[in-house]
Amino acid sequence: MSDVINSPVARGQGRPADDLGALVFYSEFDEPEPWAEALQQLLPALDFRVHPDIGNPDDVRYALVWRPKPGFFRDFKNIRLVVNLGAGVDSLTNRDDLPDVPISRLSDPGMVALMRSYVHFAVIRYARDMPEFERAKQRRDWHYIHPRPLHHTRVGILGLGALGAAVAESLAGLGFDVRGWDHAAKQVPSVTCFHDPKDWQRFVGELDILVNMMPLTPQTRKFIGAELFDRLPRGAKFVNASRGEVVEEDALVAALRSGHLGGATLDVFENEPLPGDHPFWEMENVYITPHLASITVPEMASRDVAESIRRVHQGQDPLHRIDPRKGY
Ligand code: OXD
Repeated sequence: MSDVINSPVARGQGRPADDLGALVFYSEFDEPEPWAEALQQLLPALDFRVHPDIGNPDDVRYALVWRPKPGFFRDFKNIRLVVNLGAGVDSLTNRDDLPDVPISRLSDPGMVALMRSYVHFAVIRYARDMPEFERAKQRRDWHYIHPRPLHHTRVGILGLGALGAAVAESLAGLGFDVRGWDHAAKQVPSVTCFHDPKDWQRFVGELDILVNMMPLTPQTRKFIGAELFDRLPRGAKFVNASRGEVVEEDALVAALRSGHLGGATLDVFENEPLPGDHPFWEMENVYITPHLASITVPEMASRDVAESIRRVHQGQDPLHRIDPRKGY
């Protein structure tokens, strides 16, 4: 643990005069030190505590959490703000211990840049036929495929929230023919956006690559299944960088096995870690990464967290507030 976390202020043993109260940090995936250091720079009066070493829970006014266990919030009676240590807030919705206070998610430039890079990689790998060359190399085969201009590759982005829209716009900037779908009307520069159900087939029926960027909500759970895959042109590729539970995995396996889908790049799964006996591991046309398309970058995201704490301390709304009933 760093000096910051061990400091009397961080441990709640001494408080500066302009006391902001304590923040509880909880994540099984993220190291607390960079957050403690960054937040201490920005808010020296904040008392940073790492769960479970939290001292008196009544001091806690802010929570910075990733996938807290059920019942986590019950101890914190004086909480005023919950900040989700990531973009997808699904682990904070549909739970009975959530306090009735503003909930924020992170949406920092570092996270957006990482997500963009992941989807660029997946889309370019397909658009430039890289899986063919990966296989050809195994055969020591000089296998020439004439490149197609990028604007001949039609990429569909399902979900035009902050991350989906950023990804769509940047793919269009690279020269791809990008179309986007969202349940609400959206405008994204250089992207053809659809939202009317009557345009669904127009959107899905012409894609070479479909990228899922939808949040997990009760409405999107298992939304991507056999019906959607059947509507995609034969040979289309699928990229999932949002949540595994949005996809009907059996239908995805079937579509990949039948060849209707030409390939999938999957960062997220219904069960994580992906069980060792899952069929995806054996499938040559499935590219697997262990849920890391995008992560929060503390040096960048801590500015928004600090600003939200300042705002809530002054009785204002935090940044990037979500509606827990909607789930985003
Ligand atoms: C997120 C994630 O939602 O990493 O931020 O999955």
